[in-house]
Amino acid sequence: MDYKSEIAKMLSGLAGMSEDEVCLSVEIPANTALGDFAFPCHRLAKSLKKAPNVIAADMAAGIKLSPVFDRAEAAGPYLNFFVNKETFAENIISKVLEKGLNYGGGDDGAGKTVVIDYSSPNVTHEFHIGHLFSTTIGAALYRFYKFLGYRTIGVNYLGDWGTQFGKLLYGYNSWSSAEQLEKGGADELTRVYVKYHDEAVRDPGLEKAAREWLLKIEAGDACARELWWKFRNIYLDKMEETYKRMDISFDSYRGESYYNDKMDAVADELREKNLLVESDGAQIVELEQYKMPVCLILRSDGGTLYPTRDIAAALDRMREYGFYKSLYVTDMRQNLHFAQFFKVLELMGYEWAKDLVHIPYGLLSLESGALSARKGNVVLLEDLFDESAKRILDIINEKNADLPDKESVAEDVGVGAIVFGVLYTSRIKDLVFSWEKALNFDGETGPYVQYTHARASSVLVKSEMLEDGLEKADYGSLTDDESFELIKAIGAFPDKLREAADKYEPFILSRSLVSVAQAFNKFYHENPILHSKGTVRAARLELVKCTRDVLKTGLGLLGIKAPEKM
Ligand code: ARG
Repeated sequence: MDYKSEIAKMLSGLAGMSEDEVCLSVEIPANTALGDFAFPCHRLAKSLKKAPNVIAADMAAGIKLSPVFDRAEAAGPYLNFFVNKETFAENIISKVLEKGLNYGGGDDGAGKTVVIDYSSPNVTHEFHIGHLFSTTIGAALYRFYKFLGYRTIGVNYLGDWGTQFGKLLYGYNSWSSAEQLEKGGADELTRVYVKYHDEAVRDPGLEKAAREWLLKIEAGDACARELWWKFRNIYLDKMEETYKRMDISFDSYRGESYYNDKMDAVADELREKNLLVESDGAQIVELEQYKMPVCLILRSDGGTLYPTRDIAAALDRMREYGFYKSLYVTDMRQNLHFAQFFKVLELMGYEWAKDLVHIPYGLLSLESGALSARKGNVVLLEDLFDESAKRILDIINEKNADLPDKESVAEDVGVGAIVFGVLYTSRIKDLVFSWEKALNFDGETGPYVQYTHARASSVLVKSEMLEDGLEKADYGSLTDDESFELIKAIGAFPDKLREAADKYEPFILSRSLVSVAQAFNKFYHENPILHSKGTVRAARLELVKCTRDVLKTGLGLLGIKAPEKM
């Protein structure tokens, strides 16, 4: 039973809209007093040539109500529906119990492929907090789409080519050795990279020296290539440790270097299609008509550029995966870059250019004093996770020192707190990360949701130890305000997930989890569970199980673990 379709069936005749159209426009009002579902009548004003509030009143008078609703009322331009609470409880609970950890998922995306380019760090430095947004947002979207039945391809488009490697090779050859690298790994590379920049301030000659190394890499010099590949992998291996903590893996690691020998083909095709123009020795595509600066395809020395590589990569992804959509998660400073190369692909005649989507986000910073930067002035993600886990362990030691496996719980909660914290606001907003906010067990945080999940789990474990068997649930006992609000929050979860996926906004899902957790805690305080009896206890326990499953599923979709005990 789906409530929106039920409304659609009742209204499709009255409203002169198809059932699908009605279904899509039904809303869930934030305030329960205004009904549990609402149909906005504005959109009918034109076709019916009547004011929306008149339409709402007429509909309320003429409607033949389905028995799953108690009443329908007009309120201004809205027609509001009030569900029958007992059937609502039964409907939602039986759906969640039937689907378990698959509740909310579906086959919406059957036969469709979504490619998601995310994280995609430049591998000439360690994994720092600048990568956190792209990594967590991309990974969340990846899981959302997978859960909704899409074939998903996660691409880590590594920045594994370019001038930085010239600097790194120069630095290594001047100030390091195989032994030192063996011992220091990524730290050693960072050391020489930082030193390069320090020295280059004093000695402008270093720029040219680094450039010579770069040319060697580009020309395929065996020794230079070997070092380049080795350095790339040292950084990548190190990053994999951090990905693992976030439960992230990728389906493809085709990075910038993979496209090196596929660029001439791009330039040739552009030339053939009369899109390439020469300007000061460089080859460009004019985009003035579209109110954008020119897109640089080939440098005057023949070298290729970021847009050219992205064009080659987009063509490759289409060939390889035949995508329905191809997403790119990067910060908003790259807006122009994406708009430009999307446009170039469109001009090349690729109709699917409209299916390329840039998903921009704002800036992430730490509140002052949150964590000190390592060499090179960046805060590393592993340091941030370590610190968070350490702080959580302190809290556990204070509150629940006998907790089994407390180090591993602290890791799950510590990493989860950070991931949840960055996925809690609209991605386009700049975010200043604060420990106070992220680790508060009573706030709108990861630890709060995890703690609520653990609380529900523990009620269920204890219930199994009760001697007096379970009776059939009496859903009539779940019509009090607290139970009803919880059931509503759980009932809204599948829609929230779809909205989050459609808008590429994981925070919509995070907020839905907080609503479920808050509603559960109110329910838990108002209604005795283990101390209630018979059919009432059975109903409450079913609701606890639904809560636990939804929280676990939701946390999992965000990439956060759900420990049973905290
Ligand atoms: N490596 C780039 C950076 O660190 C991000 C790459 C994003 N993906 C892309 N296809 N351009 O800023």
